[in-house]
Amino acid sequence: MTQTAAQPISGLPQARERVFSGIQPSGASHLGNYLGAQANYVAMQAEYDAIYAIVDYHALTTVHDGEELRRLTHEMVLDLLAVGLDPDRCALIRQSDMPEHAELCWVLNTVVPVSWLERTPTYKEKRQQGVDNSMGLLDYPVLQAADIVIYKATRVPVGKDQAAHLELSREIVRAFNRRYGSVFPEPQAVYTESPVVLGIDGATKMSKSAGNTIPIFAEPDEIRRLVMSMVTDPLRIKRTDPGRPEVCNVCGNLHRFFGGDYLQIQDGERTARTGCVETKQLLADRIIAFFEPMRERRAELAATPGIVEEVLAAGAAKVRPLLVETMREVHDAVGIGTR
Ligand code: TYM
Repeated sequence: MTQTAAQPISGLPQARERVFSGIQPSGASHLGNYLGAQANYVAMQAEYDAIYAIVDYHALTTVHDGEELRRLTHEMVLDLLAVGLDPDRCALIRQSDMPEHAELCWVLNTVVPVSWLERTPTYKEKRQQGVDNSMGLLDYPVLQAADIVIYKATRVPVGKDQAAHLELSREIVRAFNRRYGSVFPEPQAVYTESPVVLGIDGATKMSKSAGNTIPIFAEPDEIRRLVMSMVTDPLRIKRTDPGRPEVCNVCGNLHRFFGGDYLQIQDGERTARTGCVETKQLLADRIIAFFEPMRERRAELAATPGIVEEVLAAGAAKVRPLLVETMREVHDAVGIGTR
């Protein structure tokens, strides 16, 4: 069997590569999500045939209250529209509107050795964090692979924490294609310039589960409070001590993304011309100003009745033909259903 080109979602002749990415509705969007992934979602919708999903099936592994999951899913649609996803230029979908993702996950499960999943770093990490050791948690990366390959996407904008999942997706594609012929292309991760954003502790990855996030749509006072609590260079005890930008998440890292003068800022810290407090105040001002237009847009969207369901329905309508075609090929290749 030969691999057929996926159909474009735009209705135009297939000329552009397809992009897919997913985000869990498991909490408010934070600086790590934005700088590590969402900024690329927005940039890539201009040049690629882009599909973005709110992956609520995945979130079932950690969010166990139905009303809360529904609320978080709604909020995530607003976040993604507010940061700049344009439903006319991409398809924004809710994973559970496409149950075929779960069907394909099952088919892919049959080519995946359990040992591949048991050695996945995120699985080990989540178990250490005390997340329920469900079959869903173990199988999480296979569903992720299904999300991507059901649309034959080849580019996947994600943060570096997803690197192992993407590598696994590629292995799964190879295993499936080896057994059944060349059905799926191998997807590639696409990273931003800040693929790993550290949290306010300055030590571990910013994440909802670590409780060290700066939510991008928090109230300005809350953003300021969180930025002011960020850990800087731990060896800079006194104001007169020189700072080390290479170990400081504030001047060494985050300032790079919120203003063109970060080299001067780093120099100020290195020579103790400036202190951590003023550098954090400046960062807080800049983060608040950067997200202000998005916050305003989000408030407008939140006040528009029906907008979320409308966007999701339009997204579903755009992508459904693609997934139906892929599942037809899959059924044909593996020998289920009628021809
Ligand atoms: P999730 O919901 O944890 O995160 C969404 C995106 O944000 C990125 N990210 C970060 N990037 C840099 N620094 C950080 N501190 C940081 N925190 C989060 C993540 O890398 C991700 O790109 N498994 C995925 C969801 C998923 C998916 C998919 C992704 C399901 N199916 C298919 C791509 C393709 C996840 O849990 O992302």
